[in-house]
Amino acid sequence: MNKPQLDFDKNARFDGTSYQDILDIDTKEVPESLRAQEAPYLGSEPVPASHYTSEERFKAEIEKMWMRVWQMACREEEIPNVGDHIVYDNVGKSVIVVRSAPDTISAFYNVCLHRGRKLVTDRGCKNQFRCPFHGFTWNIDGSFKEHPFPWDFQHLSDEELQLPQVKVETWGGFVFINFDQNAKPLMDTIGPLDDHFQRWNQEERYIQVHVAKVVKCNWKALSEAFMESHHTIDTHPQIMPYLACVNSQYDMFSDYITRQISATGVPSPHLDKDKVTEQMVIDSMFGQAGRTASDDKIEVPDGMTARAFGAEVVRQTMAAQDGRDYSEYSDAEMLDAILYNVFPNLSVWGGAAANLIYRWRPNGLDVNSGIMDVYRLAPVPKDGPRPKPATVHWLTDEENWTDAEELAGLADIFEQDMGNLPFVQEGLIASGNNQVQFANYQEMRIRQHHIMIQKYIDDEI
Ligand code: FES
Ligand SMILES: [Fe+2]
Repeated sequence: MNKPQLDFDKNARFDGTSYQDILDIDTKEVPESLRAQEAPYLGSEPVPASHYTSEERFKAEIEKMWMRVWQMACREEEIPNVGDHIVYDNVGKSVIVVRSAPDTISAFYNVCLHRGRKLVTDRGCKNQFRCPFHGFTWNIDGSFKEHPFPWDFQHLSDEELQLPQVKVETWGGFVFINFDQNAKPLMDTIGPLDDHFQRWNQEERYIQVHVAKVVKCNWKALSEAFMESHHTIDTHPQIMPYLACVNSQYDMFSDYITRQISATGVPSPHLDKDKVTEQMVIDSMFGQAGRTASDDKIEVPDGMTARAFGAEVVRQTMAAQDGRDYSEYSDAEMLDAILYNVFPNLSVWGGAAANLIYRWRPNGLDVNSGIMDVYRLAPVPKDGPRPKPATVHWLTDEENWTDAEELAGLADIFEQDMGNLPFVQEGLIASGNNQVQFANYQEMRIRQHHIMIQKYIDDEI
């Protein structure tokens, strides 16, 4: 099928204020990582809608991609003591991630080697894993311990009964697993992220919030709803007074690491800037529109921008909460939505303030639904102790994101995002031309996501 070639600027950008222009007027020094810009042109071809809906394609993703990539299974803080373990399920596989010694985290297929029952069904702390079916028992380092009928299993050696291992590595307090025993080191995937996060230590943070829900759309459609900001105009119009959505910057630092940054405290270019006062920006950002001056309303001092003022409010609020010093951090690091993605399914927000983490997975073996985990990580108070991490709050099918009160003001925004997604999936199934189109720049990260999946499927990686 030949289509006429249009003559177009492959590197076109929004011609108003750029994110870098906004950084130029930061009240503090901005780190080099935020100055970095890498946005290659990745092509403009459509992607088949069936890539989101076909069982066959999904099977290929599982076999060729999911079984060979690093996947964030949990945070180290969730398994602080020997014997602490969690269960990580994805694409029909199940893994026990366990602290098997004070400084060792191990991961095993969560399957009894007798007749295949899942060994463990929930997180907890154990000094052995005993299968509830007939009592085959393993030590927490995966070695075989005992079973009630040794006389009848003389044909099996202890070696044969060693639990098959899954690879484990850690970064920034996150525990990653990989089913591929020949996988390259995690750092080959994480690389540029490690450099960029030197100022935003993720190890000294704890899980303040963890909410998860099954969403009725393919896992890629789910994750891609969080890979661009240009849906703000129709999906989140209420945040436009304080989110410079169109001015967002998109980057690709390696095959695995992409980023988008949207400035906060600056109105969207979609709005008439002469009609949005600095006070309106702050009111909208801190959810106080409609309050009167007699309430404890935050007022922007004369001569100060909403962005500079908002950043200072966050610096002081955070310092009061955790005793840390935020005075050297830029406005950008205190305020902006800085979303790094680690292929295929993890997003870690950068910056000095408390940050969000997103994780997306297929919902088991269902091509038409996915799971989203939202974490909020907060800095551990300077003088300790480390607060206990929140355990996951699963929302039921009937519940909305707004039922997770711990998400506070973010819940409305997630609900708006999720409101689109079942209709996205229905639309993809109903497609008349089997095509999905991406913007050249603003949807560059989504295109890269598909390019990488294709590379895995084609055995190029
Ligand atoms: S299936 Fe586990 S002991 Fe029999
Ligand atoms: Fe959104």
